[in-house]
Amino acid sequence: MSQPLRVAFTETDTDSIAEISGKLALMMGAEGSMNTLTRKANTLMRGALKRLAGSEAWEKTPEGKGIVINVPERMAATSILVVKTPKSPSKLLARKIGAEIAVFAGAETVTPLLATQNKAAEVVNGLVLRAYAFTKHKSAPKERADSISVMVNDPSAIEAQFGPLAAVAEGVFFTRDLVNEPANVLTTSEFANRLVALSRLGVKVEVLDEPELEKLGMGSLLCVGQGSESPSKVVVMQWQGGGDEAPFALVGKGVVFDTGGISLKPPAGMEDMTMDMGGAGVVSGVMHALAARKAAANVVGLVGLVENMPDGKATRPGDVVTSMKGDTIEVINTDAEGRLVLADVLWYAQERFAPVGMINLATLTGATIVALGHENAGVFSNNDKLCNAFLSAAANEGEGAWRMPLGKPYDKLIDTPMADMKNTGGRMAGSVTAAQFLQRFVKEETPWIHLDIAGVASPGPTAMAPKGATGWGVQALDRLIRDTFES
Ligand code: BES
Ligand code: MN
Ligand code: ZN
Repeated sequence: MSQPLRVAFTETDTDSIAEISGKLALMMGAEGSMNTLTRKANTLMRGALKRLAGSEAWEKTPEGKGIVINVPERMAATSILVVKTPKSPSKLLARKIGAEIAVFAGAETVTPLLATQNKAAEVVNGLVLRAYAFTKHKSAPKERADSISVMVNDPSAIEAQFGPLAAVAEGVFFTRDLVNEPANVLTTSEFANRLVALSRLGVKVEVLDEPELEKLGMGSLLCVGQGSESPSKVVVMQWQGGGDEAPFALVGKGVVFDTGGISLKPPAGMEDMTMDMGGAGVVSGVMHALAARKAAANVVGLVGLVENMPDGKATRPGDVVTSMKGDTIEVINTDAEGRLVLADVLWYAQERFAPVGMINLATLTGATIVALGHENAGVFSNNDKLCNAFLSAAANEGEGAWRMPLGKPYDKLIDTPMADMKNTGGRMAGSVTAAQFLQRFVKEETPWIHLDIAGVASPGPTAMAPKGATGWGVQALDRLIRDTFES
């Protein structure tokens, strides 16, 4: 896994800062208020920061953004980032401040001089998240700093606050690595192997292979991978940190590559479909996070891993398949494959675990990107209570999420005379008809959310992630579980 920066917290020491080489980051209030370390730097630089505070450039700098001072006088540092920081920033602003420091650092190391700064642990969390880099396929990767030291007044207290944040950040990195990995490396088997490795954290992992999936009757899921050399798999990950109550279920679409199948996609941009396992990636990252921080909750993660390829054995438009539930599906378009995968995994999750609630994640439709761009995931739900809890968790973590409608008139659009349903509903409301399809595999008594993450899984760069995978949803889901089951 791409390793998060190693962070050492050291005690505030004003006398030492003139000698720190490389890059430094300092905090200063909008009106020029300074902590002890900033004040010391200002003295060393003969009042440069005070002058900066009175400048137009500083006035125009938004909160959370900074100004760089190069080759500062009487200091060993090469450059200093001065970030406009209120005394008590919100959690999300604190993370943005950290991200600003990470972008300033680039591949080099940086020493944040935080002293008494409020939410210091969240500043460092933002720094770590934004410093992610996926470089494993560079033959000669640029050397990157792998550790930083952060100066704070109470190192052990801040370190204790940082621990659980670092555990979640590791989950985010696990997701990002999976999503960024190309499909020739991350085959269905390789994906399953990486999940089996989660057992080292105490997650119980099972891999269901094609013969078992056939026995279970997963004709809907299996028809998607028929044209691929890579065998289809369902991986079940159980984290039992709670009592003996039924678990909460997370279900992910794991299409390791989506060519569209016989309904082949056009070439332009097809390489992006390496991220079509983004839903499964997020489920895996959440399981990683829960296990790493030893969450006091029961959560089961299930992912359907398949590859959608055109081939002599591939499913054709017009084929009719039978799902595990027993409902038959006319495959109108083999490129609407994600819902075929999820249908069977959703049903299996409910039959086996009778979960107290269920959330599925999928890079399901381009229509979601048309509707919401890259700012928000589409949220569809049959249960206001669960839905609102998720929306507040997402807002709390700064992950965009916007509720979309479900309803009978939309559901009618996937009726067909040929079978119980068809897998596309036409051009209109494409993300809604996809959600309606999924809902046909959700029992009425199961509180459920479908998250269409097509627009948010891999748009980067964002405030918190470089170009490529974001890990959107890991923090929101971790928060939801924490707030609904652990408090
Ligand atoms: N994986 C795609 C959706 C997608 C598109 C994700 C762009 C991320 C970026 C999905 O399998 C798909 O192809 N959906 C079709 C559905 C259509 C055929 C009904 C789509 O959105 O065009
Ligand atoms: Mn598709
Ligand atoms: Zn797809």
